[in-house]
Amino acid sequence: MAETVDATIAATSRGCKLRCVACASEFERAEQDFRCLRCGELLEVFYPSWPKADPKRARELQTIWLDRRKSFSVLDQSGVWRFRDLLPAMQDWRNVITMREGNTPVFELPRCAKSAGVHRLIAKHQGMNPTGSFKDTGMTLAISVAREEKYRWVACASTGNTSASMAAYAAQGGLRSLVLIPEGKISWGKLSQALDYGALTCQLRTDFDGCLRLLREVVKRLPVYLLNSVNPYRLEGQKTAAIELLEQLEWNVPDHIIVPGGNLGNSSALGKALLEMRELGLISRLPKLSVIQAEGANPLVRTIRENGGKSLVTMEPHTMATAIQIGNPASWRKALHVLDATGGTVEQVTEVEIALAKTEIGSDGIGCEPASAVTLAGLKKLVHSGFVAPEESVVLILTGNLLKDPEYTLKFHRGELFAGTRDEGEAKSLASHRREPVVLDADADAVVRALEEAEKRTV
Ligand code: F0G
Repeated sequence: MAETVDATIAATSRGCKLRCVACASEFERAEQDFRCLRCGELLEVFYPSWPKADPKRARELQTIWLDRRKSFSVLDQSGVWRFRDLLPAMQDWRNVITMREGNTPVFELPRCAKSAGVHRLIAKHQGMNPTGSFKDTGMTLAISVAREEKYRWVACASTGNTSASMAAYAAQGGLRSLVLIPEGKISWGKLSQALDYGALTCQLRTDFDGCLRLLREVVKRLPVYLLNSVNPYRLEGQKTAAIELLEQLEWNVPDHIIVPGGNLGNSSALGKALLEMRELGLISRLPKLSVIQAEGANPLVRTIRENGGKSLVTMEPHTMATAIQIGNPASWRKALHVLDATGGTVEQVTEVEIALAKTEIGSDGIGCEPASAVTLAGLKKLVHSGFVAPEESVVLILTGNLLKDPEYTLKFHRGELFAGTRDEGEAKSLASHRREPVVLDADADAVVRALEEAEKRTV
């Protein structure tokens, strides 16, 4: 890869530092658990040498990024590293491990728009990344830092997607990977990825929060590089989804961006990007960034509604949207800051609302995993409450691919998803959205009849 790396970079991004989000202490380097040495809170990357808003410079950057799309350099072909002017600079660009992540499409969702009660609805599908989730955009950056710092092992606790992403990038870069996942609480589709990519995978009898707690101990004892979203370099990579989105919208700022919330790294990263883009003059106003959680895994919603965001309300989380089954989100302070700064809000949705939203996104031909579908379910509530007006422009961030959790989708269409749960009664309302496979004799007449009947049901 060495000879194809062209690390042309605008001078502004060279040299970043780390800053504690609580006590604002500054550091050149992080400890292995990425916590502030003074107060134990999380760190964020900042760029002391960035100039203030400069329209001429902003236009220059926009042109540089567009020009890079014509290039065959691996860095330019990555939808993350194409924006490297706003990212930490590598000491040696040959350490970059990239799978041409990012570059994800935006789609119109006309049926979903109608069902949510807005005139127009757009989705940015981060599930179209190389390993099927938004995690790849952060992974390429943080794992490249791990290689630059000469780590042999990388590790994460995961509800599935982080582990698939980390294991793939580690394999690509010749690193070993350790995965801690909560036993029985992730989808097989995700676990199988980590296995195939060669990770040492440990299923622990605890939840995601327990896995993350334990991993903090492990990285203090061994030279293992932590790749959860407490790692601030991961969030720098994830920032680029917002930059890419604005570029795709030709720098027209939407009124709302809606994101699912689990450990709250992604909402923090997207919000950071929006604030930085405004600071640099790339955009002149901010979209409202809102976070949606499952009702059974709603620590951020409770933190805001029950104690005004003063301290985190933790909980034992339960939701079939396993990716966001998290009760003690590490990045809650960062997410609160983003909600405050952008004027966004939080909302929670039920399991039945998630299932309905997922099938509606599917009926627009897009599809996503359950955790991503909370965005549409949440939008409906935000329209209902008046927070989102019908004529406002809205972007949903779909975080994971439909094929990540095929069991959920199959069970839904077979009518088995809610069987024996307390939602069974309410879920009866979903019957008209189920599209069970039709079993027929191998007979053309039978297929023709089935088609004619389906045509009658077309709305
Ligand atoms: N959507 C999907 C598909 C996810 O995999 C995750 C998190 C989220 C949303 C929530 O993002 O944590 O940044 O708020 N998955 C993690 C994992 C925790 O281990 O794969 P967040």
